[in-house]
Amino acid sequence: MYRALLLSSALVLLSVASDPTSPTSSSTIDCSSDYPSSKGYSGSEPIVSGCHPTSCGRRIFDDFASPGDVAVLRAMAEKGIGAARGGEGRPGPTIVDINSGYMRDDEGLANMYEGRTEALFTPDEYELYRSTIERIRHTVGATFGLEEGYPIFTAPTFITRLRHHEDWQPQSMHDVYWMEHVDKNNTAHYDYSGLLYLTTQDVDFTGGMFEFVEEDGVDADGDLVFKLEEALSPKAGRLVSFTGGNENPHKVNIVRGGTRYVLSFWFTCSSEHAFPAFLDGEIHKQFQPEPQPDPEL
Ligand SMILES: *[C@@H]1O[C@H](CO)[C@@H](O)[C@H](O)[C@H]1NC(C)=O
Repeated sequence: MYRALLLSSALVLLSVASDPTSPTSSSTIDCSSDYPSSKGYSGSEPIVSGCHPTSCGRRIFDDFASPGDVAVLRAMAEKGIGAARGGEGRPGPTIVDINSGYMRDDEGLANMYEGRTEALFTPDEYELYRSTIERIRHTVGATFGLEEGYPIFTAPTFITRLRHHEDWQPQSMHDVYWMEHVDKNNTAHYDYSGLLYLTTQDVDFTGGMFEFVEEDGVDADGDLVFKLEEALSPKAGRLVSFTGGNENPHKVNIVRGGTRYVLSFWFTCSSEHAFPAFLDGEIHKQFQPEPQPDPEL
């Protein structure tokens, strides 16, 4: 009887934790003019009603993914890095796109599916990755009150590993991962962001806090200055989702020790930017990240 009781309360907890309309915490912010539905909108995207946010904000879901699923997703990133680079790969930031096969670290681009004769991932691993994308997409849609079918999965998406090493220095702008930014400034069709943490701050790594920031004037060189608005501690299994416009500038702090992993997805309202979740172990070259200039640091 006790066991039945325990089991049923565990089930209740589970269903509460995964209810896409019941975030652990939630905040609403006025939307910036980045969306076609906002006053003062000056962009060129057509309005997609039922998708573009009319109410912006942030939603956090703890225990969104189980410890077992988190471990598998982390191991997939490791396997991809090992296949592309051998061993543990490089310190600093490494991004791994399981879907297109591309990865990037401070040595540049590589593809984990290049020249393979055997499958790198098992069908179960791909299925977990696919169902995680779909669950996050569905949760983002439900929590922001979108119509069925929205938002739309888009590319690129990746797992980011930030590995501390005391002697490591960024080799190019790509490696400077701690800059304040707005997702929609970098990629105009990103309307919603979803981050699923795969490691826990102060257990797996130190530093690496996620922060929502606010613009706070400019410095003597005319560069934007920011102040902290809300800090979020990464925790394995925690999903952080937010609207991708200027209402949500954010940054990651430098990792001071250990290794930090996060799975990052972006979603769009633009059907033109719909991207299939191939997850077929093939190289998808059309989504190769664009080469960019590497300014001196
Ligand atoms: C993003 O773009 C807007 C509009 O151009 C600009 O005002 C804002 O400062 C930019 N934000 C960041 C963090 O670069």
